Amino acid sequence: MQAEQRRAFLVGIAVALVCSILVSLSVVILRPIQAVSRERSRIETIIAAAGFTGYSDDIFEQFVPLIVNLETGEYRKESDPERWYAEFPEMIRDPERCTIIPKGYDIAAIKMMPKEMMVYVLYNNDKPSIAILPMYGSGLWSVMHSYLAVDLASFTVAGIRFSEHGETPGLGGEIDNIRWQTNWQGKKIYDYQDKPRFFFSKSPIRPDSEDAQHTVDAISGATLTTDGVKNTLYFWLSDMGYRNFLTKMNEEAQ
Ligand SMILES: Cc1cc2nc3c(=O)[nH]c(=O)nc-3n(C[C@H](O)[C@H](O)[C@H](O)COP(=O)(O)O)c2cc1C
Repeated sequence: MQAEQRRAFLVGIAVALVCSILVSLSVVILRPIQAVSRERSRIETIIAAAGFTGYSDDIFEQFVPLIVNLETGEYRKESDPERWYAEFPEMIRDPERCTIIPKGYDIAAIKMMPKEMMVYVLYNNDKPSIAILPMYGSGLWSVMHSYLAVDLASFTVAGIRFSEHGETPGLGGEIDNIRWQTNWQGKKIYDYQDKPRFFFSKSPIRPDSEDAQHTVDAISGATLTTDGVKNTLYFWLSDMGYRNFLTKMNEEAQ
């Protein structure tokens, strides 16, 4: 190899080395910033689901994090919600901390679910008023993560927000449309038989009918995604999900 070729080779190696060090450094430096931004976005989504706007520590301090045993509905206060949330993606794949969902019951298509979930509860004069319940289930293309805020005295929807999904923008992705989400507010989560019930309607429905209390506007071109949202809610509001906890909270809310 001639001297010039050798120099070019060495310069190439040096540039590649410097670049890889810069990339590694930026990953390390940016990681904590990303974690802060993820946490902030989580808090914003929870606050928004409960009907507040914007990020505010003052508002979020009113949200009490509780760990719920889904089988019994018993709950305890969580002292480190950030840690719990950070472990959540691993937790939902950990057979030790999850229950396998029997086939016929797995309407949200998630295969297994954690034995415990962390929820947030807003209190009003020492009585639970709104519970913000994390839920996840399959849409057409992705697992959709959401928060459903439930008014505990009336068992109606206080709000719904999605924190993560991979549905098609403009079609299934319209589940993020605030106008559609606002449509959910005030809808009853259980019917007269105490079963979760929601409909999506493509045409206006008589507002005085029983069904109107359970009906949300359909999103055109998104039937499969919204069916996934419905099945997710049906699953997490059932006895396997938050039902026992919600019953307890409803008693305390009266
Ligand atoms: C590229 C592509 C992306 C699509 N993305 C979605 C989607 O995210 N959610 C969904 O429900 N349907 C999606 N669809 C449409 C479905 O295939 C199906 O037609 C639709 O869910 C029916 O909804 P509709 O009854 O409201 O017309 C997509 C279709 C194509 C071709």
